[in-house]
Formats: sequence, structure tokens, C-alpha cells
Amino acid sequence: MNITVIGTGNMGASFAQQISAAGHRLNILGRDSDKVRAAAERFGATAETSLAASSDVVILATGYADAVPALRAAALPEGAVVVDITNPLTPDYMGLTLGHSTSAAEQIASALPRLRVVKAFNTVFAQRLAAGARLPDGTVVPVFVATDDAQAKQRVTELAASMGFDVIDAGPLRNARYLEPLAGLNIYLGYAGGLGTSIAPTWLRQG
Ligand SMILES: NC(=O)c1ccc[n+]([C@@H]2O[C@H](COP(=O)([O-])OP(=O)(O)OC[C@H]3O[C@@H](n4cnc5c(N)ncnc54)[C@H](OP(=O)(O)O)[C@@H]3O)[C@@H](O)[C@H]2O)c1
Repeated sequence: MNITVIGTGNMGASFAQQISAAGHRLNILGRDSDKVRAAAERFGATAETSLAASSDVVILATGYADAVPALRAAALPEGAVVVDITNPLTPDYMGLTLGHSTSAAEQIASALPRLRVVKAFNTVFAQRLAAGARLPDGTVVPVFVATDDAQAKQRVTELAASMGFDVIDAGPLRNARYLEPLAGLNIYLGYAGGLGTSIAPTWLRQG
């Protein structure tokens, strides 16, 4: 697949590593050309704004406040599949700035209605993503995928599976209202709860 990652921070770098490792063609965008050039060199990627338009999937790896400006700058065509990994965190990371009746994903989708927004990967720490989907005991980290578009869900499911993750279909985009608080609990447990950033929330299934 052709994948564009927007952002060169913790999550952007972890995605770049795993997407390259999975054999996809990677393109990296960002607002700081030196950082983008360095990341492209490190991960054997291109750094071409024009290539974002032909990507199968665009991963948005900025903070929530920067999401809409970053997507506007990428000038994506109608129907582009965008993975929203953001969590709308308070400055101390211990709360969410919106929820219950909306979510970051729905806010982004409503600001940019021509895009097909998929909520995924927001419950996976950057360190977990970099370390890989499989834990030493063989457990596979889940990625919850929520979107209103069946084709976009299929594409992101294939991408996450190619990176080794256990994909859980989390229904429509409005279920980002559940996934963002789930990430909030993960952050609490990882930092304030002392469990560290190798953890990830999962869902037990029998059979
Ligand atoms: N870190 C985690 O473990 C984790 C886990 C799950 C989800 N998330 C979510 O993932 C997102 C990224 O987190 P992070 O930890 O990777 O943050 P980060 O390290 O601060 O990286 C954010 C990146 O976004 C870039 N950026 C900001 N505004 C931009 C714009 N207008 N156009 C293009 N790029 C822009 C920044 O560029 P500059 O370098 O120029 O500032 C930086 O490369 C957040 O929404 C977070 O809630 C994080």
C-alpha cells in the first residue's frame, strides 16, 4: 500500500518504522522541513506533499488541536482515507477536553466532510507501536477500528493486520466517543498507575 504519515513526533516515527517494516511505500509530511527530511532519510521514505493525494491511507499523527490545519495543508482529494489517532487531552494528560456527545474523530470529520475518517490506533502507546504488535508471551495488541465507511474500514483493517495487530471492528465513527476515553484510561494506567507504556487495552473473546 501507499501510506502517508503526517507528523514526525513519537507516533509519527513509530508508524514510519512499522509501516516500512511491513513493506509498504511510505511518504512523510510535516510542518518542519528539516524534521521531515531527517525522518524520510531514516525510514527510507519520500517526503512529497503531492504523493499524499494518491495514498491508500493517510495517518494523521499530530495533536488534536493541529489535526484540521494539518489535513488542510495536505490538500487531500475527496474520499481520502484518513486515520485519526488523536486523543483530545487536557494539558496534564489526565482528562479529555470533549466527549459523551461527540469525539475528536467526529469533530475532524465534520470540519472536513470530504474525507473518510477512521478512528484507530489511539489506544496504542507510541512505545508499544515501536516495539511491535506481539508481546513476548505471544499476546497480540488490538487495534480498534471505527468508521462509517465500509471500504475505508477494510483498508485500515488490512494495514493494521499487515503490521501484525489484532483488529477489532469497533463499529461506526461515533464509537470514537468510547475509544477516546479508553485511551484516557490507558494513559492513566501507563503513567499515574505506574504500569508503563508497554501496556495496551484489549477485549477478551471466547472461541
Ligand atoms: N504518544 C503516544 O503514545 C500516543 C498514543 C496514541 C495516540 N496518540 C495521539 O497521537 C497524536 C500524536 O502524538 P505524539 O505523541 O506523536 O505527539 P508529538 O510527538 O508531539 O508529535 C506531533 C507531531 O505533529 C506535528 N504537527 C503539528 N502541527 C502540524 C501541522 N499543522 N502540520 C503537520 N504536522 C504537524 C508536529 O510537528 P513539529 O515537530 O513541527 O511540532 C509533530 O511532528 C496525538 O494526537 C496523541 O493524542 C499518542
